[in-house]
This record gives sequence, structure tokens and C-alpha cells, in this order.
Amino acid sequence: MVFGWLAPPAMAQDVHLGVKSCGSSGCHGQVASSSSPVLLNEYVTWQKYDSHATAYKVLMEPRSQRIAKNLGLPNAHEAKICLDCHADNVAAELRGPQFVLADGVGCEACHGAGAAPWMGLHIGGSPHDQNVQNGLRPLEDPIVRAGVCLQCHLGDDSQFATHRIMGAGHPRISFEMDSFTDFQPAHFVIDDDYRERKKVVDGVRTWAIGQALMVERRMDLLISTKYATDGLFPELAFFDCHACHQPMSSALPDKNGDFPTAWTPRPGTGLGPGVPKFNDANMLMLEIALDMAGPEMVEAMSQNILAIHKGSQTSRAAMVEAAKKTKATARAAVNALAAKEMDAATMKKAMEGLIARGVDGYFVDYEAAEQSTMALGSIIEAMRVAGYIDGAGYKRMSAMMEDVYNAVADDERFVPSKYVAAVRELSAAL
Ligand code: HEC
Ligand code: HEC
Ligand code: HEC
Ligand code: HEC
Repeated sequence: MVFGWLAPPAMAQDVHLGVKSCGSSGCHGQVASSSSPVLLNEYVTWQKYDSHATAYKVLMEPRSQRIAKNLGLPNAHEAKICLDCHADNVAAELRGPQFVLADGVGCEACHGAGAAPWMGLHIGGSPHDQNVQNGLRPLEDPIVRAGVCLQCHLGDDSQFATHRIMGAGHPRISFEMDSFTDFQPAHFVIDDDYRERKKVVDGVRTWAIGQALMVERRMDLLISTKYATDGLFPELAFFDCHACHQPMSSALPDKNGDFPTAWTPRPGTGLGPGVPKFNDANMLMLEIALDMAGPEMVEAMSQNILAIHKGSQTSRAAMVEAAKKTKATARAAVNALAAKEMDAATMKKAMEGLIARGVDGYFVDYEAAEQSTMALGSIIEAMRVAGYIDGAGYKRMSAMMEDVYNAVADDERFVPSKYVAAVRELSAAL
């Protein structure tokens, strides 16, 4: 089954030359930046600070060996299921003489195969458009970037971190494209010459389109027969991990007689207690993002959320039906959000939407709170970059975000009421 996702197979049949061929000291492996338009120290940043450089090496560690053993695999570092996400695992005939699998997620896993014609052209200083026409992936485009990141940070029809992999000991995976581009950390700077060479997309649009594409992809995975069921149960990785993974004592009162960690109802799900909840965090974010594009689409997304939860309590057929509709809304959302102008009022609207929903108790599930926190961080940063808030305003808002960050710092000690209180304070201070 082939999904209609954009990006990866740009020049799928070209050879990958290996990180060393990009990272030599004459090219992207310089220590200090020079007069070139790009930093030229990208290799150093990647190798020193980027966990993609160690993605393969973690497969050699005891915890990976244990995951592999639990899954009945001979080892992790040779298992296709692990390598597809933890390395640039292209077919043997596509590995050039300098290609080293142990280099993990290298330059070409994101930027595209180096043996494609863009390589020679870009060394000669060809313009970006021409490089892109010759196989360089235009990662500045959020749709293309999502296609690349989400292969591994959410999955696709050939690589997916199922609940069995989680159960074997794999950490939970979460993603938000704009924040994660920053966390990576970025090995590029958006300055005047970057703006001349490439189309710059602000962080709010990157966040919003990232959410739409995560929703679309989650729906594709849900519709796919490959991950339909596992024995009696549906694939549990689609559900909210913390709905099941709570100690039973979390329903008991604390010493003040309050129930801070017990099940909390949430508007807009139609679900009662004791029900595994579909992980709808990206759908909740998209609902808010769509408020920037128009009220009809918000309404469609709210209906989708309800239908997904209802479907999850009815039958696989009802779930697939709801997923197909949601997918259509998400696809339309990508187009609407790509066309929308992101002025100060629009960005502010998204921020206020997140805060209002947070105060109203829509983010009492950990994954929604985590997503909302990353979204707020992204929007504040984007407003600073766009000059919509000044240095002092940015400092003040960042300081006010401290409690919000603290409330989501540990998923296993998440207290919904603390999150709501932190967002309420933020709201009052704004
Ligand atoms: C769908 C892609 C995918 C698959 C399949 C996958 N992983 Fe991962 N793995 C990730 C991502 C993404 C992270 C980082 C999660 C995060 O921090 O957000 C990760 C993190 C890890 C970590 C923790 C690394 C750290 O620095 O803390 C280990 C260990 C690990 N994976 C081992 C494995 C093993 C062993 C397999 C094969 C059984 C495997 N993974 C399969 C995507 C995947
Ligand atoms: C996990 C994905 C990923 C990996 C791995 C990666 N990059 Fe990037 N890179 C990006 C993204 C995203 C951007 C920003 C969008 C853009 O300008 O293309 C970027 C931008 C760049 C730029 C453009 C800077 C500019 O001013 O135009 C260069 C050069 C670059 N990367 C080189 C490298 C090199 C060399 C490596 C390997 C050592 C590497 N990248 C590894 C994702 C990646
Ligand atoms: C080929 C698979 C693959 C692709 C493509 C990929 N990643 Fe990753 N990424 C991983 C794996 C695996 C890890 C975990 C590595 C580890 O911890 O050792 C990871 C880790 C990260 C981390 C660190 C997370 C943490 O919790 O510390 C960030 C940030 C990140 N990726 C961002 C991105 C972005 C942004 C893109 C797209 C531009 C991207 N990645 C593309 C596989 C991938
Ligand atoms: C519908 C309930 C449910 C959901 C949702 C769920 N799990 Fe599980 N999980 C289970 C069950 C049942 C087991 C098996 C427990 C056992 O073996 O005793 C399990 C086992 C695990 C284990 C192994 C625990 C151990 O003691 O070794 C991990 C880790 C895990 N799940 C992670 C996750 C993650 C991450 C998610 C979200 C992506 C998730 N689970 C979603 C029910 C769930």
C-alpha cells in the first residue's frame, strides 16, 4: 500500500555518498563560519550536538539489545525495523564507498541523495531552485520537511513504532515540527541572504501545517490494514499512552482529600471514565490552528474529533469511516493554512485559542498538554522573529511560560490541575 505522502522519494534511486563526503573540512566540516552564505560548520553541529548522529550508536547499547531480545530479534543494530528509523538505511546498492551505516541519520537522510545532480551543481554555487530541480529536498517548505521528519517521528506503512515495540522498552515518541527543528539543534541561520535564497516560512505556519500533516498521517496509519488490529485489540500505539499507564492508586484522594491525578472529564470527547482514549492531541492542536483559517473548518475538525472517539467505541468500520473524513479535513487544512497570511493578529489568535482551551480543561491529557506547551513556545518565538513582540515582551512571556513547562516536564507525574493553573496564570498575565 502506498500513501500519498509528499517528499521522501525525491531521487530514490540515487546513491547516498555518506556523511564524510559532505562533512570534509573544505565543505560543511569547517569549525568557524566563513564568508559563505551558509555556515559551513553543519557537520560539526550535527556530530557534536545532534542526536541523529548517535541514532545508530544507541542500537548498540544494552537498552536497545534488551528491546531487540524482548521482540525476539537477534540484535537491534542489524534489524531492519530499528535501522529504518535509526540510520539512513538505504538499499545496499545505493550505498557509496564512503557511506557508513553507523553514521546514523546523516545529511542525506534529510537533504536527499548526494549522487543526484544537485551535488555537483551546488558546489559550483548554483541557485537553490536549480538544486531543488536536481534532487535537493527543499526542506524550508514545511510540507516537504514534514514528509521527511514524520517518516521516523510518527511512522509510515513500512516503519512504525507499534505498542509491541513500546512494550519491549522503546521510549514514547512525540513530535512537533517547529519546536523539533529548533531542538535538533538547527545548523542554519535565517538571515538576509537565506531569505534571498529561500522562501522563509514562519514558525506558526510550520507548527500548524505540521499538525495537519500529523493528523493526516495518523489517519492513514489508522486506515491501513497493516496496523488494524493486534489480536483482540486495536493497535494500542494509536491511543493515549497515559490512559492505560497510570497506577491504579492515581484514582485515590491525596492527603487534602483532593483527587489531583484521578480521571478528569474533558469537553468534546463524549467519553466517560474507564475508556482507552484515542490520542487526539494533534487533532486538538489542528482545531485551534484552523481558527486562523476560518470557522467552517474548525467545526469540521470538532466533528471529526467526536466521530473518532465515537468510532473507537463502536467498531473498526466506524473508526475507518471517521478517519477518512478526518483525513479529508486535514488535507484541506494544509492548503488553507499554506495560503493564510500570518500577521500579528493571526498569530495572537492561535495563542489565545491555546490558552482559552487550556483554561477550559481541554488539555487534561498529558499528550495534549505537551503539544499545547510546544505550540505556545513556537508561537512566542515566531512573534519575536517577526517583530510582533519586542525583546522585553519576549523575556516576560518566556518567564511566564516557566510554570507551563514545569507542569509537563515529567509525563509520569503529570497533574492536570497544575497544568490548568499554570495556563490560567499565563492568561491573567497576558
Ligand atoms: C518509527 C521509527 C522508529 C522505529 C521503528 C524505532 N525507533 Fe527507536 N526511536 C525513534 C525516535 C523518533 C526516537 C526518539 C524519541 C524522542 O526522543 O522523541 C527513538 C528513540 C529510541 C531510543 C532512546 C534513545 C535515546 O537517546 O534516549 C532507543 C534506545 C531506541 N529508540 C531503540 C530502538 C530499537 C532497538 C528499535 C527497533 C526494535 C527502534 N528503536 C525502532 C524512532 C524509531
Ligand atoms: C534531521 C534532518 C537533517 C539532517 C540529518 C541534516 N539536516 Fe541540514 N537542514 C535540515 C533542515 C530542516 C534545514 C532547514 C531548512 C533548509 O534551509 O533546507 C537544514 C538546512 C541545512 C543547510 C542550509 C543552510 C542555509 O543557509 O541555506 C545546510 C547547508 C545543511 N542543512 C547541511 C547539512 C549537512 C552538511 C548535514 C550533515 C552533516 C545536515 N545538513 C544534516 C535538516 C537536516
Ligand atoms: C531516518 C529517521 C529520522 C528522520 C528522517 C528524522 N529523525 Fe529526528 N530522530 C530520529 C531518531 C531515531 C532519533 C533519536 C536518536 C537518539 O536519541 O539517539 C531522533 C531524534 C530527534 C530529536 C531529538 C529528540 C529528543 O527527545 O532529544 C529531534 C529534535 C529531532 N529528531 C528532530 C527531527 C526533525 C526536525 C526532523 C526532520 C527535519 C527529523 N528529526 C528527521 C530519526 C529521524
Ligand atoms: C489500552 C491500554 C494501553 C495503551 C493505550 C497503551 N498501553 Fe502500553 N501496555 C498496555 C498493556 C496491557 C501492557 C502489558 C502489561 C504487562 O505486560 O503486564 C503494556 C505494556 C507497556 C510497556 C511495558 C511495561 C512493562 O512493565 O514492561 C510499555 C513501556 C508501554 N506499554 C508503553 C506504552 C506507550 C508508550 C503507549 C502509548 C503510545 C502505550 N503503552 C499505550 C496497555 C496500554
